[in-house]
Amino acid sequence: MSLLEVTDLQVSFHTADGEVHAVRGMSFSVDRGRTLGIVGESGSGKSVSTQTLMRLTPGARVSGRALFEGRDLLTASDDRMRELRGAEIAMIFQDPLSSLHPLYKVGWQIEEMIRAHDRQVGRDQARKRAVEMLGLVGIPKPDRRVDDYPHQFSGGMRQRVMIAMALALNPKLIIADEPTTALDATVQAQILDLMRRLQAEFDTALIMITHDLGVIADMADDVLVMYGGKPAERAARRTLYYRGHHPYTMGLLRSVPTAAGGADRLRPIPGQPPSLINLPSGCVFHPRCEFAMPHCRTDEPVLEHAGPPPGADGHDPSHVSACWLPLDAVGLGEDAQARRLAAAEAAREAGRRGRGKPSGHARPPEEEPGRRPEPGPGPGPGPEPAPRPGPADGPGMADGPRMADGPRPGTADGPGTAGGTGTGTADGTGTGDGPGTADGTGTGDGPGTGDGPGTADGGNA
Ligand SMILES: Nc1ncnc2c1ncn2[C@@H]1O[C@H](COP(=O)(O)OP(=O)(O)OP(=O)(O)O)[C@@H](O)[C@H]1O
Ligand code: SF4
Ligand SMILES: [Mg+2]
Repeated sequence: MSLLEVTDLQVSFHTADGEVHAVRGMSFSVDRGRTLGIVGESGSGKSVSTQTLMRLTPGARVSGRALFEGRDLLTASDDRMRELRGAEIAMIFQDPLSSLHPLYKVGWQIEEMIRAHDRQVGRDQARKRAVEMLGLVGIPKPDRRVDDYPHQFSGGMRQRVMIAMALALNPKLIIADEPTTALDATVQAQILDLMRRLQAEFDTALIMITHDLGVIADMADDVLVMYGGKPAERAARRTLYYRGHHPYTMGLLRSVPTAAGGADRLRPIPGQPPSLINLPSGCVFHPRCEFAMPHCRTDEPVLEHAGPPPGADGHDPSHVSACWLPLDAVGLGEDAQARRLAAAEAAREAGRRGRGKPSGHARPPEEEPGRRPEPGPGPGPGPEPAPRPGPADGPGMADGPRMADGPRPGTADGPGTAGGTGTGTADGTGTGDGPGTADGTGTGDGPGTGDGPGTADGGNA
């Protein structure tokens, strides 16, 4: 049994404007020592889903099951949840300033957290542990800094304090909600490195929430792509980058700046995330999808196995995608793209001729007797992307963003990109409104990190 098993989690909020369907059926599991990356645009339900697991969404209507070591978090008593929080499951938030009390010394706050869970631990012992934890996360002179207030630390150092606090009770699971979004690229890389190291040392399971596929490439074993409150695709990290299926995943991958890129244009996902009060019919991604077919507007796809079948090269039993396109058309390669376009055009043509929707998944025209493939322009934002520059270090990667094998997007080994998904249009008229872009004014991270003024200039638009 997995450490955490979430099944069909649904969360909604009643508001004056209507019911907000923030999470609409989310299932996943995390094993000890593994990292699950949850990625998606703003408002896709990443935070609400994990906060609900911690029972931090008061007033929400919640259903489903979330078994932590076999016991359901969603029905646990308040006392049980108090025991679990911090000691068994810890959270790290994006903004450490809002999580640390400004009027108390950081050491005192760590000590209190330790003593809240075990009153047998004396003040001296708790302080010793706080100093030890601050040292472990790379705070220089921890025996002195333990008596500093939060404002006396830089942003990166405060995030280290939060990690120290999260690890102080040696929890089995850490949920990190955008832990590095507010940090410049250099400090972000250091914090991620620290988390990876400590996770391996303590064999902790980690849920890493981010909008940054660069962070996922660095950290995650498995990836869950969220869209409109629901998983759009789930797979092992390598599968997702090399053999992704869902058009939304493709869109995210194409909007990641590459460390090697430069001449290449980023391709934004056109349109806006959906309203969670008035959701689009059928596939919730259809208003933004370049492959949208007639039945995408009426029939909601469910998660099904995608990619090569069992026994074939690249088969990933965990790979599922919710999309009506042929389930074997995977990857960012030109072949897969042509297959998707052809299948979409065939379905549209069938719709125009009044032949109704194809049953189940779309099939490319070559699979229909008597028809030749005729890739059509579709309603998408523009022509096929030109191959992206960069090393072709694996199947399907020649035209895609680089992943863990090479420098991670977002922590370029030089003045680089900040790992955000800045948007820009295909014709080069960038808008630069993507989350997580740095503007070249990254700050140094205080003593011990030696990073000086940040040089991230990756407002990629
Ligand atoms: N208490 C609440 N009442 C009403 N709606 C809420 C509440 N909390 C969250 N929501 C809505 O739920 C949706 C999902 O929010 P959530 O914070 O999970 O998004 P997210 O994916 O974490 O986005 P971001 O990347 O911006 O953090 C949003 O539309 C948000 O406005
Ligand atoms: S092809 Fe259809 S089902 Fe697939 S993502 Fe696009 S709109 Fe949704
Ligand atoms: Mg969030």
